[in-house]
Amino acid sequence: MVKVAPSILSADFARLGEEVRRVEAAKADWVHIDVMDGVFVPNLTIGPEVIKALRPHASIPFDVHLMIEMPERYVERFAECGADLLTVHVEASHDVKGVLSHIRRLGMKAGISLNPGTELAKVEPFFDDIDLLLIMTVQPGFGGQSFRTEVLPKISQARRTRDERGLDFEVVIDGGVNRDTARLCVENGATVLAAGSALFKAKDMGAEISLWHGF
Ligand code: DX5
Ligand code: ZN
Repeated sequence: MVKVAPSILSADFARLGEEVRRVEAAKADWVHIDVMDGVFVPNLTIGPEVIKALRPHASIPFDVHLMIEMPERYVERFAECGADLLTVHVEASHDVKGVLSHIRRLGMKAGISLNPGTELAKVEPFFDDIDLLLIMTVQPGFGGQSFRTEVLPKISQARRTRDERGLDFEVVIDGGVNRDTARLCVENGATVLAAGSALFKAKDMGAEISLWHGF
């Protein structure tokens, strides 16, 4: 069954604890948390202190997506604040292999992400070092953008290569995922759907997640 990870970027930031509890009550698999530094992307969001404050509000895994330059500077901070999965961008790090192994050494699952314009070949050398591959289907930085269908072949190629190599990392899709594009992602090999606006704006988040679980 495909996993669903609501992105709290679309939550009510004034009531984040309650929103995280709502995500867990809606039977989501993970909470997706977007960290932005205003440099790697032109937006700022939250950091480790907020994640630490949210940790007691849910027991499902915290899937932390770092959209920051030189993420190697902060791996320890994110381990301490309760991140379970930590994803860095291939475009943002000088030592991708080093940062991935550091993440694992600290007991977290390691993820690599790539922007829509970045070729799959850039992340393939790290396929043995990851627990998840996060494929961006919008330019990172903001929620509520439209899904880029031209990325679909990259999803199916990633899934094919993963299977051929006998690996089992999660294939996560992030950006513009809604009821229609979620189905397309699963058909192309996605194993996890991260979504902000479509889930937080849904009339009933739990019903929406249970529909997606059936794709
Ligand atoms: C965008 C973030 C996404 C974002 C997705 O940079 O990485 O996780 O929250 O939002 P939607 O689902 O609204 O495109
Ligand atoms: Zn994200």
